[in-house]
Amino acid sequence: MKRFLIATALLACFGCFGCAAKTVETRIVPAPASFEYGKGTLNLKGININCDPALDAPSVRAVRQFSDRLSLVSGKTSSVASPIGLARTVEGGKIKGMYFIKDASVPPEGYRISVSSRAAVIRASSVSGVLYSLQTLRQMLPLSIYGTEPDNSSRWTIPCCEIEDAPRFRYRGLMLDCCRHFFSVDEVRKVLDVMAFYKLNRLHWHLSDDQGWRVEIDKYPRLTEIGAFRNGTMVGGDWKSNDGIRYGGYYTKDQIRDVIAYAEARGITIVPEIDLPGHMQAALASYPELGCAGSQPQPYEVWTIWGVSRQVLNVGNEKTMQFLEDVLGEIADLFPGEYIHIGGDECPRDEWKTDPDCQAKIAELGLTADGGVSPEARLQNYVTARMQKFLAGKGKKIIGWDEILEGELAEGATVMSWRGTAGGIKAASMGYDVIMTPNSHCYIDYIQSEDMDKEPFSISHMWSPKKKKVKTPITLERVYGYDPLGEIPAGDQGRILGVQCNLWTEYIATPEHLEYMLFPRVLALSEIAWSDPARKDFDAFRQCLATRQLPLLDLLGVNYRKLD
Ligand code: ACM
Repeated sequence: MKRFLIATALLACFGCFGCAAKTVETRIVPAPASFEYGKGTLNLKGININCDPALDAPSVRAVRQFSDRLSLVSGKTSSVASPIGLARTVEGGKIKGMYFIKDASVPPEGYRISVSSRAAVIRASSVSGVLYSLQTLRQMLPLSIYGTEPDNSSRWTIPCCEIEDAPRFRYRGLMLDCCRHFFSVDEVRKVLDVMAFYKLNRLHWHLSDDQGWRVEIDKYPRLTEIGAFRNGTMVGGDWKSNDGIRYGGYYTKDQIRDVIAYAEARGITIVPEIDLPGHMQAALASYPELGCAGSQPQPYEVWTIWGVSRQVLNVGNEKTMQFLEDVLGEIADLFPGEYIHIGGDECPRDEWKTDPDCQAKIAELGLTADGGVSPEARLQNYVTARMQKFLAGKGKKIIGWDEILEGELAEGATVMSWRGTAGGIKAASMGYDVIMTPNSHCYIDYIQSEDMDKEPFSISHMWSPKKKKVKTPITLERVYGYDPLGEIPAGDQGRILGVQCNLWTEYIATPEHLEYMLFPRVLALSEIAWSDPARKDFDAFRQCLATRQLPLLDLLGVNYRKLD
C-alpha cells in the first residue's frame, strides 16, 4: 500500500507519463486496507473463470455478470465453471485463470485478491465480499469494463498484486429525500449503481414528509391519491410564492419491490423512513381526522412551501396510533432489511399543549415535566417506544433522528446524529448504536463551494441571502476530512455503526441537479465509510477522481460537480 501511495503521490507531482500512468489508474476508491504490487501483470482477456461450488447462487450470478461484461468488452469469451474440488486445486498451486473461493476466514464484508502473472485468486466469506472484490477488479481494468461496446484498443490486464480489504464501518449510507421532490425509479436505480461501485451498502429512503407521501399503503389509499400531490411549489426562496403547477408522484409496492431487488443484487439494503409524529402534513391532508382538533388552518393541504409544518399527528387519539401501526406494519412487510427509520425529528409540540386528546393521554400516562423535559416531549417518547415495540414484534429495529434522545429512549434504538455530533457522542455514551450524519460535514444539500454566485440555489443561499461567500461550505475536501470516530471516546467507538450523507431536496428538482449535489461528494463518503483513516490521502484521491472516477461518471451519463 505504501509503495502504491508513494507512486500515486509522485505521479500527482509529475503528471502522467509512461508506465507510471498505470499506477494512478489502479488507485482504488475507496482505498483498500492493504494493497501491495507484485511484478508483472495478468491478462484477463478470454481468461477461464472458476467458482468454488461452495459459493452461493447470488455470488456466482455476480461473477457471471462480470464475466459476461468482460467477454463483451474485451472481444474474447471468458467461460465460468464450478469444478468440484476447486479449493483444493488452488491450494495445490500451479493454477491458471481466475478463481473465486469461499473462505470462512475472511471477515464478513471483506475479500482478498492475489494476482500473479498466471492466476488471480479471490477469497471471500459472503456475497458482499464477492461483490466488493468484483468492484475492485473492475477498478483495475480499463474504463470500458463499465461500458457495453467492444474495446479492442485497451489491454485487458491487471497488475500483479496482493489486496486484503474489509470496511471500517458496517453501515455506509446515503439518504435520499424523494418527498420534497420526487425522483423516478430509474433515477433511484442510477444512484444505486454508483453507490455499489463505491461499496456503499445502505440507501436510506425518505418516503414521507409534509410536502408529499411517496409509498403506496393498501389500507390507506388516500395517502397516495391525495397525499402524493401538492397544488404547486414555492419558487426559489420566496415563501409567499407558488408556481401554480400541480406536483407529485409515488412508488407502487411493485416498484418498491423492484428497487429492493435491484439494490440487493448490488449489496445494498434499503432503510425506509416514515417520519413521525411531525413532518406529517401530507398524511393529514389525506386523513384529516388524524390531526389535532383545533388545528388551523383547516382543511389541511399537502404543503407547498418548505420548512417544518406545525401541524402534527394527534397522538392522543388511539385511531392515530392504529394508523401508525398499520402503516409501519405494511412497511415492515414490504422492506426486508433489519431497520425501519421512524424519523422523530423537528416535531413542534405546540398543538399537543391544547389538544384535549393529547392532554388526556398525558394525564392517563402520568407524564410530567421533569429534568427540563416537557410532558409533550415525554408524549413523543411514548409514541417512539410504542412504535419500537410494535416493530420489534415484526422482527425490526428502529432508527430515529437524534431528537429521539430527548427524555427517555428504550434500549435497542439506533440514533442518527444530524444536529452536529453531540447527539451521537451522547447516544454512544448511553449505550445506543449510532450512525453519524452531522450537518457539519454530511449534509450534501448544502452548497459545495464558498462562491454563492457560482453554485445553484441551495438551502445555504436561503440562510445567507445577502452574502457572496459561505463560511463553511460542505466541500468535497470537508466531507473527505470527516472522521466519524474523531470525537468519540475510545470506549464508546464500538457503538458507531457507520456514517451517512443526507441529500434533502427542497431546492433540487431535477435528476441533473440531484447528481450534481451527490457527486463527487458521495465518493468522499465512500472513502470515510470504508477506508482506514491512515490510508486516506486527499491529493491522491482527488487525482484519482480526475483521471479515473469522474471519467467513469461521464461514461455512465452521471452528472457531477467539476473539481475546482
Ligand atoms: C433533519 O435534517 N431534519 C433530520
